[in-house]
Amino acid sequence: MAKQSRSTYVCQSCGYQTLKWMGRCPDCGQWNSMVEEAHTPLRKKGASSMSQPQPIDTISLAHEMRLKTGIAEFDRTLGGGVVPGSLVLIGGDPGIGKSTLILQVLEGLAKTGYRALYLSGEESSQQIKLRAKRLSVHSDSLYVITGTCIDDLFERLDSLKPALVAVDSIQAMYTDSIASAPGSVGQVREVAARLMTLAKQSGIPIFLIGHVTKEGAIAGPKVLEHLVDTVLYFEGDRGHVFRILRSFKNRYGPTNEIGVFEMKDSGLSEVDNPSRIFLEERPQDVPGSVVIPCLEGTRPVLVEIQALVGPSPLGMPRRTTVGVDHNRISLLVAVLGKRIGMELGDQDIFVNVAGGLKIDEPAADLGIVSSMMSSFLERTVDRKLVLFGEVGLAGEIRGVSQPELRIREAKKLGFSRCILSRSNLEGLGHLGNMELLGVETIQELYELLFK
Ligand code: TYD
Ligand code: MG
Repeated sequence: MAKQSRSTYVCQSCGYQTLKWMGRCPDCGQWNSMVEEAHTPLRKKGASSMSQPQPIDTISLAHEMRLKTGIAEFDRTLGGGVVPGSLVLIGGDPGIGKSTLILQVLEGLAKTGYRALYLSGEESSQQIKLRAKRLSVHSDSLYVITGTCIDDLFERLDSLKPALVAVDSIQAMYTDSIASAPGSVGQVREVAARLMTLAKQSGIPIFLIGHVTKEGAIAGPKVLEHLVDTVLYFEGDRGHVFRILRSFKNRYGPTNEIGVFEMKDSGLSEVDNPSRIFLEERPQDVPGSVVIPCLEGTRPVLVEIQALVGPSPLGMPRRTTVGVDHNRISLLVAVLGKRIGMELGDQDIFVNVAGGLKIDEPAADLGIVSSMMSSFLERTVDRKLVLFGEVGLAGEIRGVSQPELRIREAKKLGFSRCILSRSNLEGLGHLGNMELLGVETIQELYELLFK
């Protein structure tokens, strides 16, 4: 009898199945949509994988307890520590410091008495030891395994019984039940699904490291985002020493929470006051520079927005942004032209968020508009001023969430004036010696700043 194949190729857009890989799905006509998937055995009759119905009040919260890693920035990004049985994906560009981070996290856990296991499919134990030496990581509860076949991991777990496992990286791992190469979409998904089952059944939290890669033969963390419990991205410019760990999805805590680290010779160290760092190199009295308090998750962070606006030598003026949305700039430029007659249509506009942070909240609008006006008019903005608010198409300034939190952070760092929307101002109580100025339209903002 012919050997039965253990996997099929499934079209990701219509679900068509074949035994052999095909470049184009014969059913829906999509190109390159076939991904290998392992056969799931048919369930025996009578067996149910579904739990019995249970009143919500009687479900006990044994799993509420979180493991602390001892790295406060990391714990906060996770929403207060590692949840038992959770599968956490840490994605990032190659070389950004993922392995470094995870080794430090595992050491932190090992130090608090948990047995941690680091499975590496990319480096030899010698290389890992070298890194550990550099990071001064020592612990007799931190174990290292090297290997790439995930099926073998399960045996090892039985004998070692770790409290936590990290797999570095998901793209290096494979399972025997699928023939595709490690790193392909099918393999990455299957390996992750197995680890998910393991985490849920055993209650062991598992960290997956994933390289963000261009689309192609190697699958990036994007294909896993829907599967895992928590997705953290480790970001930063390799030219900068700052690294930002951002929670992108979190079943057990807030998203958009950030942890800020600094990459040093001896590993990552926590930065507990990012506002100060982001403002440290702010230029003195230069037009186009303003400071805004934005919210990253639950944490207020002050950042400097810089704009450079000047006549364009080109027929089609440039709009270049770093850290803010490009379309938002076009919208704000249109509002400026229409509502206060400030025509920037023939100007090159560059907007930059200093320090490498990315901002996507509308609360930054007021800051972006002010920095563009300031640069265009060659007029500086008060150094002790911060502003926040959303700008609507009619030129109206709208309120944003958590005004008090933002103002308190600004006060802490020595700012003494704040421009915000009138609606936000009305909801606020007295906030010490901070001068609060409410504005309703972009015209009022212009008059307050430059008249
Ligand atoms: P690594 O953790 O290997 O990155 P990844 O696992 O994301 O690919 O870290 C790579 C970079 O970090 C490397 O370019 C060197 C730098 N680095 C330091 O600056 N200090 C250190 O202590 C360590 C271990 C690495
Ligand atoms: Mg690595």
